[in-house]
Amino acid sequence: MNTQPAEWHFVKKRTADPAGGAVYVSDDRTRYRRTGGEALAAEAAYQRQLAELGYPVPHILDNGTEDSHVFVVEKSLGEHSLHDMALESLEGTRALSDTVVDLAAEVGSRLLRAQAAHAVPADLLMLREWVREAGWTDHVFTENPDLDTPRVRAALDRAVAQLARVPMVPGHLDYGLPNVLPVGVIDWQHHGLVPLGYDTALALEIVPFKGGTKGYLASPEQRHRYLEALNEAARATTGKSLSQHLAPFLLVKALFFLALMKPTDPARTDKYVKWHFRRHLFLEVLDQYERTGAVDTAHFLTLDDFAARHGAPGHP
Ligand SMILES: Nc1ncnc2c1ncn2[C@@H]1O[C@H](COP(=O)(O)OP(=O)(O)O)[C@@H](O)[C@H]1O
Ligand SMILES: [Mg+2]
Repeated sequence: MNTQPAEWHFVKKRTADPAGGAVYVSDDRTRYRRTGGEALAAEAAYQRQLAELGYPVPHILDNGTEDSHVFVVEKSLGEHSLHDMALESLEGTRALSDTVVDLAAEVGSRLLRAQAAHAVPADLLMLREWVREAGWTDHVFTENPDLDTPRVRAALDRAVAQLARVPMVPGHLDYGLPNVLPVGVIDWQHHGLVPLGYDTALALEIVPFKGGTKGYLASPEQRHRYLEALNEAARATTGKSLSQHLAPFLLVKALFFLALMKPTDPARTDKYVKWHFRRHLFLEVLDQYERTGAVDTAHFLTLDDFAARHGAPGHP
């Protein structure tokens, strides 16, 4: 175990961390250090447990308190996330590389199998707690009181009822290509019990939520291939596939992407448009789910198309 003193280089501030935490990398790039508050201590404890359960997560080398903040040091899982690899292989196009899709399917299946091995039966309370935690519903309804309606509540109840027989497993809640490396999954900041498949099944479905202004998009064939690989892993472990739960999963994920989007500075038109774009996507998912019981992300508007059509609705 390498516990030599290291020179730490700032990587980034931690997203959505009220404690103002940050991520640093060691000189030799073999270790990452996170700083934060009490939530980071809980994150580290969770990650240690996951490692013991056989999840593909970074090994924690050190943690403690220093100058009244919590710090955690873990092993690097490598230089490039699948998101980095996807961007690097674009070569002027928008097409996601098949190599990245296959890697995503491999890691996703590995995580899914580890999760399935530690499943507990769901009950309605657990599922409602998942909706609240994973969908950040307290924040979403505070920022968007017009969405706190019987219609939205009914759709969420329907999603919960539909998932009643899906086992619950220790989950990530922010699973996506930026947090996936070929050998494992990083960034367990937002963790909690999730219905099996919630993390992994959506990895390619959530790409359009970023707005499509830069980067890659998965083709319908790639999304299908990815889901089939996960279905196979799910069937091998639980006897049931999971793609039929995509719609209720996406309903909750669309809320997650809407949380904390309302700009505090009214002059930031760009942020205002992004917030309304996410509101639009949530309403699109809701509408599709209500009408057909399924959600197809293939025809989501891009941020640019949304802005061209709607500008900044209601913006002064
Ligand atoms: N154990 C690790 N192995 C490899 N890269 C890491 C590791 N931990 C962090 N990183 C890098 O640092 C970045 C930020 O860390 P992360 O915990 O994902 O922060 P955030 O919560 O802001 O997304 C990651 O996107 C990744 O590039
Ligand atoms: Mg991250």
